[in-house]
Amino acid sequence: MRTKIVAVGWLLLLPCVAAAASSDVERGRYLVKIGGCNDCHTAGYAPSGGAVPEAEWLTGQSVGFKGPWGISYPVNLRLLVRTMSQGEWIQRVGKPVLPPMPWFSLRAMSESDRRAMYRYIWSLGPAGSPAPAYVAPGAAAPTPYILFVPQQEERQAGAPAPPLKN
Ligand code: HEC
Repeated sequence: MRTKIVAVGWLLLLPCVAAAASSDVERGRYLVKIGGCNDCHTAGYAPSGGAVPEAEWLTGQSVGFKGPWGISYPVNLRLLVRTMSQGEWIQRVGKPVLPPMPWFSLRAMSESDRRAMYRYIWSLGPAGSPAPAYVAPGAAAPTPYILFVPQQEERQAGAPAPPLKN
């Protein structure tokens, strides 16, 4: 009798658990979209105004970001989530990593938001290949890169600033 009651209890609970999991996935998708993760972690997303099929989202990028730290590459998050548990993800994201990754945005996220992101990225399934490995300062760049350093136009001392164009 008791096992029956427990079994019925579980049956009633299951749809709730399933609904919670799918709303997490939806929420994760929303957070990824508004959080700008695709700008760097999806090739072509920013230049095309987001016109990249979801099947290709978050597969990383082989165009690096070069600065005083060397060259960093937005990792393939679809493969990364396969290497860690949900708990490990929640602990790890939000810890300092190389620029221009806005790790402090993830640090500011609630645990439930980080979990939702993990579940969404997991739901996309593994795809693509790993991003190129980090390159130390001064070493030759194996790929194209974006120079992530402020640039200043040369002008003679005392010369008026060039007119602003729009
Ligand atoms: C401006 C570009 C940029 C944006 C926007 C960005 N990332 Fe990243 N991300 C990077 C780069 C570059 C790295 C590699 C950093 C390194 O090698 O240390 C990275 C690394 C990561 C890592 C690996 C961290 C680790 O511990 O190994 C995770 C997870 C991650 N990003 C998640 C996200 C999520 C989620 C978002 C959206 C909220 C996001 N990123 C937005 C550029 C970006």
